[in-house]
Amino acid sequence: MIKIKNVSKIFNGKKVLKNINLEIKSGEFVVLIGQSGSGKTTLLKLINKLIKPTSGEIFIGEEDISKRNSISLRREIGYVIQKEGLMPHMNIGENIELIPKLLKWNKNEMENRSKELLNLVGLDPIDYYDRYPSELSGGQRQRVGIARALANNPDMILMDEPFSALDPITRENLQQEILSLQKELNKTIVFVTHDMDEALKIADKIAILKDGEIIQYDTPENILKNPINEFVENFVGKNRLWKNPDILQAKDIMRKDFPKVTVNGRLITALEIMDKANMKYLIVVEKDRYKHKENAVGVIFKWDITLKAIDEGATIEKIMKKEFQSVFFDEKLTNIIKLIEDHTLKLVVVTDRNKKLLGVITANRLITMLARIIPQGEGLND
Ligand SMILES: Nc1ncnc2c1ncn2[C@@H]1O[C@H](COP(=O)(O)OP(=O)(O)OP(=O)(O)O)[C@@H](O)[C@H]1O
Ligand SMILES: [Mg+2]
Repeated sequence: MIKIKNVSKIFNGKKVLKNINLEIKSGEFVVLIGQSGSGKTTLLKLINKLIKPTSGEIFIGEEDISKRNSISLRREIGYVIQKEGLMPHMNIGENIELIPKLLKWNKNEMENRSKELLNLVGLDPIDYYDRYPSELSGGQRQRVGIARALANNPDMILMDEPFSALDPITRENLQQEILSLQKELNKTIVFVTHDMDEALKIADKIAILKDGEIIQYDTPENILKNPINEFVENFVGKNRLWKNPDILQAKDIMRKDFPKVTVNGRLITALEIMDKANMKYLIVVEKDRYKHKENAVGVIFKWDITLKAIDEGATIEKIMKKEFQSVFFDEKLTNIIKLIEDHTLKLVVVTDRNKKLLGVITANRLITMLARIIPQGEGLND
């Protein structure tokens, strides 16, 4: 865990970090994002003691890092510095082996590790191990910088715009690699980027910085759905939900105050509820044995309730449709659209994992929802 408590940093009389509070849990992937000069790099340098805070405290685990030896601390934290920062007079292998060498690994062990890492970042060791940094492209040097940060397998890695010089395909591959590495080995990663799409894709949590302050620190989902102010809204981009529709889940779209009737109610009651609510359908529910929850058992549509059925004393159970589709509350928007389209459904029922009824999504509701997130002035093509 990294805990940053009331940390400020002043450079030449200018406060570049203002009372930062930030808690990063072990195994979390946290992304710092913000305009140039907002203090992202400064914050990373504070975490591995390359610089000291003007005031405030930083803890790693339970330990106040001001009490720790800087060199040994730095060896425990992988750091990909902004602008890769390779040693020009060392070849690629030696660059990657910098820390393992200080830690006195044996030569074979080091070499195997750096070759493994070169493969990981997509550079063929046979070709690249002996080259010098000046013989590599900017993107290739950046990848060596990433390999170097991983060399001694640190639990914690700070990455300062590690992918900024990479083409979109290499970038996406490395994003995937880093993500699976982080999840599999439970690494704690603090990652700086300017790219909101990248942040949304990889972060467990995003901290948005502005002029040395953290404006919002939240999950990608909450940043998109509930930006704390106009700055965040603009920063995230108004059309972002449209570009990331799967951030929306069943629970965000469903209607919670849907009309319903109990299965042993009278048919005429069902009709009355529909008329009052101005609805063409009702969800038919049944309380479970302990009355802890309501389950959906069917859907009854207005056009199926005929006078004849009422006259003949038909029950709700007889008239209702028992075949209906239900989804869990966290089902993604695109899957729901597909379900409704594939089965030409009027509605789907939303439940929790115990099948407790939570809400209803109708085709109409979906259209309204999509209209709300569709970018202004951008129509559909067909
Ligand atoms: N060593 C230093 N001495 C004086 N001022 C500094 C120093 N390092 C950073 N600053 C200033 O602190 C502020 C924050 O810099 P920082 O490098 O943390 O920004 P950043 O968010 O990483 O920006 P970028 O996205 O451009 O990398 C800037 O105004 C910068 O000029
Ligand atoms: Mg920076």
